[in-house]
Formats: sequence, structure tokens, C-alpha cells
Amino acid sequence: MPAVVIVGAQWGDEGKGKATDLLGERVDYVVKPNGGNNAGHTVVVHGEKFELKLLPAGILSPRVTPVIGNGVVVNLEALFEEIAALSSRGVDTDRLRISANAHVVAPYHQTLDKVTERFLGKRAIGTTGRGIGPAYMDKVGRLGIRVQDLFDESILAQKVEGALRQKNELLVKLYNRRAVEVEEITETLLSYAERLRPMVVDTTELLNTALDRDEVVLMEGGQATYLDVDHGTYPFVTSSNPTAGGACVGAGIGPTRIDRVIGIVKAYTTRVGAGPFPTELFDKWGEFLQTTGHEVGVNTGRPRRCGWYDALMIRHAVRINGFTDIVLTKLDVLTGIAEVPICTGYEVDGVLHHEMPMTQTDVHHATPVYETLPGWDEDISTCRTLEELPENAQAYVRRLEELAGCRISAIGVGPDRDDTIAVHDLLPGASR
Ligand code: GDP
Ligand code: IMO
Ligand code: MG
Repeated sequence: MPAVVIVGAQWGDEGKGKATDLLGERVDYVVKPNGGNNAGHTVVVHGEKFELKLLPAGILSPRVTPVIGNGVVVNLEALFEEIAALSSRGVDTDRLRISANAHVVAPYHQTLDKVTERFLGKRAIGTTGRGIGPAYMDKVGRLGIRVQDLFDESILAQKVEGALRQKNELLVKLYNRRAVEVEEITETLLSYAERLRPMVVDTTELLNTALDRDEVVLMEGGQATYLDVDHGTYPFVTSSNPTAGGACVGAGIGPTRIDRVIGIVKAYTTRVGAGPFPTELFDKWGEFLQTTGHEVGVNTGRPRRCGWYDALMIRHAVRINGFTDIVLTKLDVLTGIAEVPICTGYEVDGVLHHEMPMTQTDVHHATPVYETLPGWDEDISTCRTLEELPENAQAYVRRLEELAGCRISAIGVGPDRDDTIAVHDLLPGASR
């Protein structure tokens, strides 16, 4: 008791980092169960801004032990760069623990990510180019390199050789690139081994014994539900399972230990990269959300595509993740819109859908059906209770709650840790 999961409900960048940071004061461990340095979380602590990619946002809370779980793919160069950058700003990174079973993103994974995207041409996914897909392909294909392999030089060399035998064929014959040398890769990876060694542990043991002692473990999912390789808008997805079930696998924590599954939901919708997006806006409102919400990707600097809130997506996300609570973020961004649309249906070839359609083709062909609610003009960034919000903002929140079929337990009204309205306690079992 109790383990808690944080999951993005849309296409990422909902504000998972801020939510994790907010709970950081009251939890003992924050584990990242999936993804790698494709994530980008901006956390603002008392006006000071931090950008995290590979490390869990919990690293910013002095009492938390941050953990990189077995389900993560770790780029070692990126890891030590991020550690150095945080250390230079006074953040204590010594508590970081990394699973011996986590996989390594090798330089050839990054090369393959880029050449594959180019090869796909018009059908490109718009990946972050961090080698995430190729690293997970090797994991599932049983050609991956694990963190623990760095501590056994001869095993490492054998594994790199095995992986490169196939990759070099691809790189040279299909993609017209130079072959990669086994020794070069082995030596690069080995150069991190000694620095890595003190951080590497059996993280499943660490986390499960912490739960036995009644400490609080928070799993901070990267990416989001609709980027999930099983449940997302495939093939325009990432290569891991960022949904709640995936968090159990990626952290090695059984589902029976999970107390709360918290869905992070933006008050509108954004997406980076390619793929269907029924409520996407191409007019002045899209620009309004992009500008007012500062919707630019942390990781790649790409502007995020913006659209209205999609209630079908959220209701489906509530079900497949089993959300117990929703944290609604960026409500402040909607201030000043006279009529706020909410997508409550999709029209596909003359048929009205009230739930997510079964086929991806239907999602591509969906025309959103909206209901509109009256907006508000008052600055809400200083509101700290639900009652302080303007009537119309309260009605918007209530309507989203009703459509989602899940309670909204906190509301973000600004980027800072303190810019939050707490409605229900998200960690009722926690002693702090
Ligand atoms: P993550 O990847 O889910 O952690 O989200 P990102 O950090 O990529 O994107 C969310 C952005 O919104 C960040 O720049 C946050 O600082 C900011 N943010 C989070 N919550 C709020 C909020 O309630 N209001 C406003 N205005 N900004 C927020
Ligand atoms: P956070 O944790 C938004 C998207 C990429 C691309 C697709 C596949 O900050 O919410 P990948 O490099 O993973 O193979 O790219 O997934 N993507 C994200 N979009 N936020 C993220 O992370 C993302 N991580 C991956 O843009 O469309
Ligand atoms: Mg992000």
C-alpha cells in the first residue's frame, strides 16, 4: 500500500511532469516504467523551470528516490548529460536507481530511427528520432542489450556482435550507410559501466519491499494512452505501453498493489508527430491554443498540433486504464474563449458515433460533433478552490467529469507547482 500510477490520457504533454512533481512531496519513490528520452516534461518549481527527458520528474523532490524501471530504454549519453545538467543546478541526483533489466539505446538505434523515417517518406511517424522504436524492436526481437550486460565484457561483445550482424546488412544494403564496428559500440558502452554501476539494482526488489513497508510508490508513465502501441492510433504511436497495465510490467509491480490510477487530461487536445486527430484546428483557434498554451515540444522543438477537447477519447482512456481520478490541466488556457466547444461525437460517413470507433479508418474519416458551453473572461490563475472559479468554468469542469465518467480531483490553472486546485485527495493512503 499504496502504489499510484500517472498516465497521460491523450497524445502526451498533458502535464504529467507537473502532476508528478506536485505529488512528489508525499511519495517515497517515483519510477519511470516506459519510454526513454523521447519524453519531455517541463516542471516549474517556484518560478524555476526544469526540463526532463529521460529522468523521472520525481528527481526534483528531495525526499524521493527516483527509479528508471525495467521497461525503459536508456540512452547512456543522454542519461549522463541530464544528470550533469541537473547536478549543476543543485539537484541531488545521487539517489537515482536504474533497473539492471532496462534496455540500452545504442547509437545504431538512433541511426536506424532516422533512416527508417526517411525510408517511410509520406508515411513517416514523426518520431522524436531518439532510437526508441529500434531499441524496443531489438528488445522484443531478443537482440537487445541490457544495462546489466555492461558489467560482463564478453557477453556484451557477443550481444553487440549478434545485433550488428543483422543491422549492418540493413544499414549498408538497404539504407546505403556505413557499417558499424562491434568494437566501437562495445567500447562506447563500456565507457559508461563504472559510472553506472552504483546506480544499478534490482529495482523490482527495491520497489516491492518499499511497498511492504507502506511507503508510497508513484509510477510516472511517459507518453500517453493514444501513443500506446496496443491502444493508440497505430502505427502513429510509440513502441511501448504507456497505459496503466504497461506501468505494472515496466516497474515490476503487480496490479493488486495499485491503489490509484490518475489520468492526466489537458482541457483541450494536442499532438506532436503524424497521425489522425479528429478535433484538430487549422483556424485562428488552433493558433490561439498553440500560442496561449505555449504548445511547443520540449524534446524536439516542434510546434504541437492543437484542437478542442475530445470526450470520446477521454471516456475510452478512462476505461482502458481504469482511471480512479483525473487531473485536468491547463484550464487557464481556455480563458477568453466566448463559446468553448467539446467534442461529444464523431460523424463517419453519415453515422454518428458516441464512442471511439472500432477501426482506425473511421477515426481518420471522423468529423467531430460539438456541443458548446459558455466561456469565461476572468483570470483563473490565482483560484485555489473549485468555488473560486467563475460559474462557467465550473460548469465546463462538471460537464467534462460527466462525459468522462470519472471524477476530476485536481485542476491546473498555471504552470507552477502551486497553480493547482485540489478537489479530492489523490493520495488518501499516504501518511504525509
Ligand atoms: P508532460 O510531458 O505530460 O509532462 O507535459 P509537458 O511538460 O511536455 O507539457 C505540459 C506543459 O504545460 C509544460 O510546459 C507545463 O509547464 C505546462 N503546464 C502544466 N500544467 C499547466 C497548467 O495547468 N496551466 C498552464 N498554463 N500550463 C501548464
Ligand atoms: P511525453 O512523455 C508527445 C510521439 C512522437 C511520435 C511518436 C513516436 O512528453 O508526453 P518515438 O520517438 O516515441 O518513437 O515517437 O510518439 N511521442 C510523444 N509525443 N509527448 C511525448 O512524451 C512523446 N513521446 C513520443 O512525437 O509521434
Ligand atoms: Mg511532454
